[in-house]
Amino acid sequence: MSVTGLTEREDDEHKDSFLYWIRNHYSSVQGHIAGQLKVFKAITGEVSTINEYFGGSGMGTMMLQRIFKPTIHSVWDIDPMCVSNLETLKETHGFNNLVVAEGDAKSTILSAEQCDLEVLDFNRFSPSKIRTWKDQFDAVFKRTPKWIYLVDTAQSRVPLLRKAFSDALGYPVVNREDCLRGYSKYFFEHYSYIVEYGAYSNFACMLLKPSDIYVEPSLEKISRLDGMGALQTW
Ligand SMILES: C[S@@+](CC[C@H](N)C(=O)[O-])C[C@H]1O[C@@H](n2cnc3c(N)ncnc32)[C@H](O)[C@@H]1O
Repeated sequence: MSVTGLTEREDDEHKDSFLYWIRNHYSSVQGHIAGQLKVFKAITGEVSTINEYFGGSGMGTMMLQRIFKPTIHSVWDIDPMCVSNLETLKETHGFNNLVVAEGDAKSTILSAEQCDLEVLDFNRFSPSKIRTWKDQFDAVFKRTPKWIYLVDTAQSRVPLLRKAFSDALGYPVVNREDCLRGYSKYFFEHYSYIVEYGAYSNFACMLLKPSDIYVEPSLEKISRLDGMGALQTW
């Protein structure tokens, strides 16, 4: 796949776009792809409907299309440039059941249809943001999806923000693993969902599912090799 509209590295006009960012942070992108791929592959059973609120470059969209072959897959992004790139992706690859639209996740999450997999690949997310997005989380969990993908982009800040993250999660956060356990406890207590699996490095990709009992998440570090291999494996 290609990223349309950006032929030069110094494309000032679009420097705020996520598309500009990924062209200049290739190793972070590889790690992110590896994390997304690990989570999507950890999903068992059928996924035929998907809501993806932060479409970005379309790399996640492409993986979701290829792995699950969904019957309905809605993807939004707030950035018109990302939306245009997603439309090109749809046409180029013949993803006929992919519905691409521009939209702010603050409202698209509230009004989306029920689906099997909710994909919350936030631009920036940490335990401190749970409160900011509370209405949206309430809406997502109320739709009782089989699976939720959630990203945390602040794992490298855990040592600096232990208190803030512990307060937000109501769980003692000392290291990154604690933070992911804290998310699991929080979502179990508030919504009866657990983090079943988490892949992490300086960010974390989590897979949530409904559960009547609390079970500790299975956690895996994303290695440099995972990142390098991810682009080839899908
Ligand atoms: C981490 S990226 C998504 C990466 C994507 N999964 C991929 O594979 O490229 C986050 C995206 O969220 C978008 N974004 C930021 N704030 C948003 C909002 N309020 N609503 C919708 N999209 C938003 C950004 O434009 C960016 O493309």
